[in-house]
Amino acid sequence: MDKKTAGLSDTFKKNTAPKSFIKNPIKGTKFTIAISSAKGGVGKSTFAMNFALALKTIGQKVGILDADIYGPSLPKMMSINEKPKSEDGKSMTPINQYGVQCMSIGFLVDTDTPMIWRGPMVTSAIKTFTQKVLWNNLDFIVIDMPPGTGDTQLTFAQEIKVDGVIIVSTPQEIALADVRRGINMFDKLKVPILGLVDNMSFFESDDGKKHNIFGEGGVEKTSNDYKKKFLGKIPIDIDLRVAADSGTPLVEKNPDHKISKIFIEIAKKIKQSYL
Ligand SMILES: Nc1ncnc2c1ncn2[C@@H]1O[C@H](COP(=O)(O)OP(=O)(O)OP(=O)(O)O)[C@@H](O)[C@H]1O
Ligand SMILES: [Mg+2]
Repeated sequence: MDKKTAGLSDTFKKNTAPKSFIKNPIKGTKFTIAISSAKGGVGKSTFAMNFALALKTIGQKVGILDADIYGPSLPKMMSINEKPKSEDGKSMTPINQYGVQCMSIGFLVDTDTPMIWRGPMVTSAIKTFTQKVLWNNLDFIVIDMPPGTGDTQLTFAQEIKVDGVIIVSTPQEIALADVRRGINMFDKLKVPILGLVDNMSFFESDDGKKHNIFGEGGVEKTSNDYKKKFLGKIPIDIDLRVAADSGTPLVEKNPDHKISKIFIEIAKKIKQSYL
């Protein structure tokens, strides 16, 4: 006699099974490194540009992809006003600036125009930038991420092969709460965290005194708590801010500056873990 057992239909099982995603590597590069923070305004873009130029300074071929669709910073920070060319109407050639290949949504739209897009459009723009841009023979692509834990982060984590993420934070408690969320997100999505950076770590006045404006040691402590590497401290520095605003990142403008040296040290650490 036929024994019927209650069970889930194949269709139901298929629809409810955990989705497996195919992760596409970005063509034209060996390694993809994302610069992220769950909080806005902590210096991700400043870090991404200077870190990319630091990698260039130590002899790497580098590209920067500005993945901040709603608030692109790359055109201003790298002084790029031209539009990327397309030979075949399907792919785009990145723009070369300071020896680095660059791409940003800001090249395609007026930077004062707000991008009023829903999530799926952002996802589709990210896919275009990672699959349809002719990145040429790079060692590293540095991705400048938008703040938060939203569509862009999810698209990179699930559909693009990201080799590692660097988390940037400022040291005050309100930012660290977001860092913990960021760490948990990348751990959950199985994206390797290369380490944490303490930006705007302290301010050194002319008399050489250090002022811990946002508190002390919070980012390093969070790294230890989560068993992640601590990559270094970047102080609040007027030259770093002025260089970013003027369109030539400090590492490019003055590689011997003491702040540039910190970026170069971090770049060396990251290079060592890959090459
Ligand atoms: N260590 C620093 N010293 C001085 N100014 C800094 C430092 N780091 C960043 N800044 C300045 O702080 C401002 C915000 O930095 P930035 O745009 O890099 O942050 P962000 O995290 O990318 O912001 P968003 O979340 O909006 O993308 C910029 O004006 C930048 O020049
Ligand atoms: Mg930014």
